[in-house]
Amino acid sequence: MKTIIEPFRIKTVEYVKTTTQEEREEILKKAYYNTFLIPAEDVLIDLLTDSGTSAMSAKQWAAVMDGDESYAGSKSYFKFEKITKKIFGFKHIIPVHQGRAAERILFTMILSDIDSDGRFINAGKGKFIPSNNHFDTTRANIEFNGAEAVDLVIEEGKHPEVIHPFKGNMDIEKLKAFIKEKGAKNIPVCMITVTNNTGGGQPVSMENIRMISKICNENKIPFFIDACRFAENAYFIKIREKGYENKSILEICNEMFSYADGCTMSAKKDAFANIGGFLAINNDEWYVNSKNLLIITEGYETYGGLSGRDMEAIAQGLDEILDESYLHYRIYSTKYLGEKLLANNIPIIQPTGGHAIYVDAKNFLPHIPPEQFPGQALSVELYRYGGIRAVEIGSVMFARYDKDGKMIPADMELVRLAIPRRVYTQSHIDYVAEIFCEINKNKNKIKGVKIIEEPKFLRHFTAKFAPVD
Ligand code: F0G
Repeated sequence: MKTIIEPFRIKTVEYVKTTTQEEREEILKKAYYNTFLIPAEDVLIDLLTDSGTSAMSAKQWAAVMDGDESYAGSKSYFKFEKITKKIFGFKHIIPVHQGRAAERILFTMILSDIDSDGRFINAGKGKFIPSNNHFDTTRANIEFNGAEAVDLVIEEGKHPEVIHPFKGNMDIEKLKAFIKEKGAKNIPVCMITVTNNTGGGQPVSMENIRMISKICNENKIPFFIDACRFAENAYFIKIREKGYENKSILEICNEMFSYADGCTMSAKKDAFANIGGFLAINNDEWYVNSKNLLIITEGYETYGGLSGRDMEAIAQGLDEILDESYLHYRIYSTKYLGEKLLANNIPIIQPTGGHAIYVDAKNFLPHIPPEQFPGQALSVELYRYGGIRAVEIGSVMFARYDKDGKMIPADMELVRLAIPRRVYTQSHIDYVAEIFCEINKNKNKIKGVKIIEEPKFLRHFTAKFAPVD
């Protein structure tokens, strides 16, 4: 059987609004050509993110009704703790309101000296945290604490057209050389992001995780996994890595996390929840320190930043994500969009990843230089022409400036079409591909954009742009 169908049916619908191109032109102007600043109501197909945008199942909604909102010792927490321990296997689970809160607690703790009164004194300067590619909030949390976030993805992972089964892998030789150069004592933790969002939603192999863990162990460097899309990663391992074809998703997850000392997790992705996350840690001392930060900023240890009903939705979602028929549909429906774009000569990162299609805007719009942000220009065009919202993952998000203020562009200029889980049907996706075909016809007329206002951190969320003349 070749056709991949959705392994669910629709029980509730949410209407979407259609706008005219003239209306969208005005909306774009008002939003300063930043897709984050467009009111969601004015978007026809929202591919801005797969985060917190999943359709919850009937069982999740039912669990929400069963949420226990007790301040301490809520039964919803124990349910949440039970399933997270079953999948991830770590000793301590700390609930937080979303992934970046787990990152903030982890990095504030490990990049600080703690005085005799338990106060945290920042000691991030001169410290380095390697990963395959850090996500933007992870990078920001590391840099906000004075340390340096370092990307060590394999070379193949930096070239959109190069095919590799595990393009999210970390370059093991580079990691060894990096530890030698900087010294293990200056690397308080090593991370790996599964799947590698910044690098195209590309998976990391079990072998790579095992090797990183071995090197970290030899150098006494704790190893953490950014686990947002762990189940999608596990499915790729199952279908692409020898020896895993007959293992269950749960078995693969158990093995993946057995190599690590902890993880950060945003439940807004592979837990089908609209909010939530957790920090998982084996080390008892780190757990105590993390809890101190948790209680000051998130909440008591059995709810963190979450309500009981959120923990119920997450617990049920984590159970559902292990379903292989869902993961099969998920990975192949993403591929479906990728193949449609490729068939129409739209360059994308290949092979297609788990949660999104990444269009190679540098290649698609070669007449727009990185200084005029081709990815941003394309995401503006997608909205203008089709009411589709996407996000730039390129120099707006990741460019640096040298000491003379000259822009050092990002490795790639991408536009991400993130696919919310269980939300859009095949005809929505066909529409997206059609809009691309239309844009393709007049792509030479698309103009670049310039930044007219930007904040110091995470500028892509709020920066204001104007079209270049
Ligand atoms: N790590 C990765 C790999 C992520 O993709 C994200 C969020 C986070 C950490 C932070 O989690 O949003 O719950 O605080 N990614 C979203 C995205 C925002 O659109 O890719 P959060």
